[in-house]
Amino acid sequence: MDQRIPMKKRILAPSILSADLGYLADQVKRCEQAGADWIHIDVMDGHFVPPISYGPRIVEACKRASNLPLDVHLMVENPDRQIEMFAKSGADLITVHQEASSHLDRTLNVIKALGAKSGVSINPATPAETLSEVIDLVDLILVMTVNPGFGGQKFIPSTLKKVSKIRTMLDLSGSLAWLEVDGGVGLETLPALINAGADAFVAGSSVFNAGVEMEKAIANLKLAISG
Ligand code: DX5
Ligand code: ZN
Repeated sequence: MDQRIPMKKRILAPSILSADLGYLADQVKRCEQAGADWIHIDVMDGHFVPPISYGPRIVEACKRASNLPLDVHLMVENPDRQIEMFAKSGADLITVHQEASSHLDRTLNVIKALGAKSGVSINPATPAETLSEVIDLVDLILVMTVNPGFGGQKFIPSTLKKVSKIRTMLDLSGSLAWLEVDGGVGLETLPALINAGADAFVAGSSVFNAGVEMEKAIANLKLAISG
């Protein structure tokens, strides 16, 4: 590795989709104290994906509860209608789906103009190549490693090849964008994902339903990604 380029810190982003929402502020604070890097907030509209989850007021509540960057993943049709509300509610990173955005170039520029970091996500069946024209515009690429909509699903192994491919695309273009993975991420799948070049890891079940206290789960995951 070129020693002049310091290795970027890898990110652990617990997804509050699996948190106990009755104690949201407490759960977010505990994530922060346990060493989480970002809080991942999954917004679902009942159209792009079947469930409806939550909106900007939950982002505001997370903002009040912690100082961690808020990583908002919009699983919504026509995200242009939502972006400003989420930016105003305190989202630090806003990720839209390639499949849901007809004017992705414009959408990503609007996110930046609102002062947030811009992200684009692709579903497991969407090829890496669909990102080639926006790679210089994004601060984050989110590769779905399950089909979006639900926590607790099984990791889809064929997505690993796509993560490697996007790592190469980013490196070739000189982009420092985060390469985030989401779905079925846990202690068993992390080594292969790190090896493929991911550097931001969303973890829902493996933080909140790991069978151990979330502090312990976060410590274990942080150790696994710190290598
Ligand atoms: C799924 C969401 C994920 C979800 C991941 O559509 O985008 O962020 O919370 O959950 P786990 O980590 O349980 O697969
Ligand atoms: Zn997500």
